[in-house]
Amino acid sequence: MTAILIDGKAFAASIREKVAAHVARLKADHDITPGLAVVLVGEDPASQVYVRNKGKQTVEVGMASFEHRLDADTSEADLLALVDRLNNDPSVHGILVQLPLPDHLDSDLVINSIDPAKDVDGFHISNVGLLGTGQKSMVPCTPLGCLMMLRDHYGSLSGLNAVVIGRSNIVGKPMAQLLLGDSATVTIAHSRTKDLPDVVRGADIVVAAVGRPEMVPGDWIKPGATVIDVGINRVPNGEKTKLVGDVDFASAVEVAGAITPVPGGVGPMTIACLLANTVTAACRANGVDEPEGLTA
Ligand code: GUN
Repeated sequence: MTAILIDGKAFAASIREKVAAHVARLKADHDITPGLAVVLVGEDPASQVYVRNKGKQTVEVGMASFEHRLDADTSEADLLALVDRLNNDPSVHGILVQLPLPDHLDSDLVINSIDPAKDVDGFHISNVGLLGTGQKSMVPCTPLGCLMMLRDHYGSLSGLNAVVIGRSNIVGKPMAQLLLGDSATVTIAHSRTKDLPDVVRGADIVVAAVGRPEMVPGDWIKPGATVIDVGINRVPNGEKTKLVGDVDFASAVEVAGAITPVPGGVGPMTIACLLANTVTAACRANGVDEPEGLTA
């Protein structure tokens, strides 16, 4: 059997279209242009690429993009002052502080200084608490993208066995909360989990988010299961390098019912969901109806 490929690139494009349509309505009917501010501290090359892509896609869907690039030695007080300005700027509906921050800055302190209503990453402690208690919140972008793909594939996730491999605050934990919110039976596995292959073999849904190249082989996958591979790992490939996921795609594709490739699976969904969260935040800030199907 060969699995259906879940095309994240096409799915992300369809989300961007929905976002663009809603942005156009907000502009025409309410004179509101959703705005996203992205803050980058320092010169981490990967972060620079992400921030550039975010800015480009924000403008493409008709929203305003505000980029703030700060020196690597920016003080915590200066960064907090910028966040405070953005919190109080009515043209800014979403704020994202790119992580990781340089070591001298306290990420938790900075993230928790963002107005929760503008926290389009869903990392603020109030949004984490709201999600954990099943209340309306801003939802972290990568797990939201995974949830959208799973809902699209299954319709309902009710009663399915889901295993999330990885317990990060950015992916693993919110992913588990979202699956639970959709009435899946959820296991969070991690580096100390006993008999991980057997745990994974019991899963209808496997979400791999550990950051270890190709660590999940096909013979751990239950035949017909859906595999969502969040990993983006750069590994040597002859003279060059290539991107691989946390799942061994070649063997898993023979067993799974559906699988996300790397690249072209979960990756493109993250920025699309960031744009979705920004339009959602702009609607909530103005008491306007939210777009359907773009939130959890
Ligand atoms: N760095 C890598 N991924 C992310 C993300 O989703 N949000 C932020 N703020 N920083 C990141």
